[in-house]
Amino acid sequence: MKREKFGSRLGFILISAGCAIGLGNVWRFPYITGQYGGAAFVLIYLLFLLILGLPIMVMEFSVGRASRSSVALSFDRLEPLGTKWHWYKWFGMAGNYLLMMFYTTIGGWLLLYFVKMAAGNFKGLDASGIKNEFGELMQQPGIMIVCMIIVVAACFAICSIGLQKGVEKITKVMMLMLLALMIILAVRSVTLSGAGEGLAFYLVPDFAKVKEAGLMEVVFAAMGQSFFTLSLGIGAIAIFGSYIDRSRSLTGEAVCVTVLDTCVALLSGFIIFPACFAYQIESTAGPSLIFITLPNVFNHMAGGRIWGTMFFLFMSFAAFSTIIAVFQNIISFATDLTGCSVRKAVAWNIVAIIILSVPCVLGFNLWSGFAPLGEGSTVLDLEDFILSNNLLPIGSMLYLLFCTSRYGWGFKNFMFINMHAGNVPIIGQLCREYQRSSGIKCAQIDWWRFTQPNSVGICENTGWMAHGHASECGTSVMLYPVSYTHLRAHETRGNL
Ligand code: ALA
Repeated sequence: MKREKFGSRLGFILISAGCAIGLGNVWRFPYITGQYGGAAFVLIYLLFLLILGLPIMVMEFSVGRASRSSVALSFDRLEPLGTKWHWYKWFGMAGNYLLMMFYTTIGGWLLLYFVKMAAGNFKGLDASGIKNEFGELMQQPGIMIVCMIIVVAACFAICSIGLQKGVEKITKVMMLMLLALMIILAVRSVTLSGAGEGLAFYLVPDFAKVKEAGLMEVVFAAMGQSFFTLSLGIGAIAIFGSYIDRSRSLTGEAVCVTVLDTCVALLSGFIIFPACFAYQIESTAGPSLIFITLPNVFNHMAGGRIWGTMFFLFMSFAAFSTIIAVFQNIISFATDLTGCSVRKAVAWNIVAIIILSVPCVLGFNLWSGFAPLGEGSTVLDLEDFILSNNLLPIGSMLYLLFCTSRYGWGFKNFMFINMHAGNVPIIGQLCREYQRSSGIKCAQIDWWRFTQPNSVGICENTGWMAHGHASECGTSVMLYPVSYTHLRAHETRGNL
């Protein structure tokens, strides 16, 4: 099977940034920063992005590029024989589903706020009126479920149109418009009267606040946020490695995605905190923060209704782009693992995700008595805690170990794929040498494709060498994993 490639480099960057950029930047980052004391938290978060987030993103991309597969098969293809790394696939998939279990609900809120903004529902409301509006929504599970279903159905529909046509085109436009709008909003917010205090909260570190919240808790929250924002640890971003053009450096691509993602998060801080302080909204409000802050900003802006409508529209798109990317992963998982059709995978998963998303909605109303993490906490907090503070860091560490330990894929293989993936001369050399010593015709071939009967070739960038006795996916094809170690072994044994 030949994997689809992205149409353009910008397309790739924007769509993997689209997977990364989403609620994590605009909804989660401000509220977690607000809860953990502002600037000092931001510093720790940036540090984690640099020392863990970025390298782990390169590792996920490498695993995706080498295996040319979703997490369903990537570890099976790359792990040393007899090891159990492939068990990770269940863990990774659980993480993808768990993320969607609350993400789709928040996506639904955004969609509803887009409609409310367009309808002028916030007009004339003061800060407490806007807060009440959100509170009332939380008491209406029916509306929330309908919005969530619309989000799930729309995103699965886009996925089933196909990667190139559906996802890439839509995401590219959405992301660029969101970025432009956020810059305008940030300028508006920092020029509000009373914005100075918010800026100080956001930009001047106060480590006493970190101490107050508990150092370890803040460190964990910052680490979780850095993984969440880049969608790391659950194989969600890895799949994009399998789509990256082979001439591209994975590190370069990962830097672009991380920088874009971080810019959006930091920008959203510039929108939210000055506005919070200007309108006396508690920065510790939690998940409701952007929904009770932003309508105030728009109410005090010339043309605020239009700006607000656009903001919630683009923001819904940003959430959609993440949901679409994760759905894409979930669909690939099902098709890679079971060989079922995309249509079937979509049909099953629409139902599954809708059912799985209901507890998050009910946590705010019918099940509000259930406070799993202490007073005032909800199902959303529990799901987010399991994911961000547990699955994402553990999953990221697994990628790290897999790519660096000799009991896993190993550092040399990782670096080989990372650095030599586009190095066609090495592959060509290998083919020529093989042909000379074996007399078997050797061709450089693309994934699974055989141009000649009795041919051998390296599936470019895939980490596999194929030896075929038939044409076009013939039955007697043998595939050998090719890695740095294997190449050396072949060389020293004089096999080539
Ligand atoms: N990385 C995704 C986001 O930030 C999950 O929203």
